[in-house]
Amino acid sequence: MTKIRQLYFLAFLRLILKSNNVYLIKLVSIGSSPLSVVVHTLSRVGLPAVLPCSVASHLDHRPHIQWQTIRDSVFERMGQEQFQGEAYRDRADVPEELLVRGNCSLFLQDVRFSDTGIYESYLVVGESSIKNRILIQSVHLAVIDHKDIKSVQTGAELILDLHTHQAEQVIFQNSNETDWTVLWEKDAVINKKGYLEKRDNKLILSNVTARSAGTYKVLDSEGLALSTVKATVTEPVLPKETETLQIQSALGKLKTNSVIVT
Ligand SMILES: *[C@@H]1O[C@H](CO)[C@@H](O)[C@H](O)[C@H]1NC(C)=O
Ligand SMILES: *[C@@H]1O[C@H](CO)[C@@H](O)[C@H](O)[C@H]1NC(C)=O
Ligand SMILES: *[C@@H]1O[C@H](CO)[C@@H](O)[C@H](O)[C@H]1NC(C)=O
Repeated sequence: MTKIRQLYFLAFLRLILKSNNVYLIKLVSIGSSPLSVVVHTLSRVGLPAVLPCSVASHLDHRPHIQWQTIRDSVFERMGQEQFQGEAYRDRADVPEELLVRGNCSLFLQDVRFSDTGIYESYLVVGESSIKNRILIQSVHLAVIDHKDIKSVQTGAELILDLHTHQAEQVIFQNSNETDWTVLWEKDAVINKKGYLEKRDNKLILSNVTARSAGTYKVLDSEGLALSTVKATVTEPVLPKETETLQIQSALGKLKTNSVIVT
């Protein structure tokens, strides 16, 4: 234990206040510990994220690891026993096979905007009555939205990725207008004369017209944009027309040189 303390320059003192709340006061000795460095990670909403962490080889066969934010418990593992915080149910893990090799990285699935923040991993050491926690790693997780630009031909399909089951609503703003209209809502019956269909967590708008051009936003339950897609609609160009256009533009360029093309 003494060795570990020296190694990490950290000590912990547990204070039990009158209110029965348990506070952990962290005493960090003067001196720059490399472990106080915050690692920054970035993930797009709905995707998995890995919060990096590694511990030296002094792990016993059943390392006890904790991940937490300032407010919540995120994940805890001791051998096969594990605990997931309420907000992280079925989404958080420190795989046991990686942990025994000193890799204490936290695997988060289906990342949410509310997951943004500082995460800290601790190694819990000591006997059952006196336990100490050693800070291993601080990780700042930033969660950002998806942005995309699409160009679709008239009559074709516009495919909007909902990205995650957090998607609750899709709203649309026509290029020419300022109003937003609700295009799709989770659990609501889709009734757009068959132009709209949901397939594999994607929304498919068929038979696109010029009026489909504009901005599409996929919103979560808080009304935050998980994704923004700017769509333009182009007229299908027939091969002949393409040739004509090319000749015309060639003519335009050549005119200045007074060259006549027949
Ligand atoms: C931990 O394991 C993950 C997944 O295999 C890997 O991406 C990561 O680099 C590992 N971290 C360390 C510190 O070895
Ligand atoms: C597509 O929309 C146009 C104009 O509204 C309509 O004339 C045409 O029949 C539609 N095509 C299909 C396949 O639904
Ligand atoms: C926007 O307005 C112009 C002119 O009124 C019109 O030609 C165009 O089709 C409109 N675009 C959309 C996407 O409605």
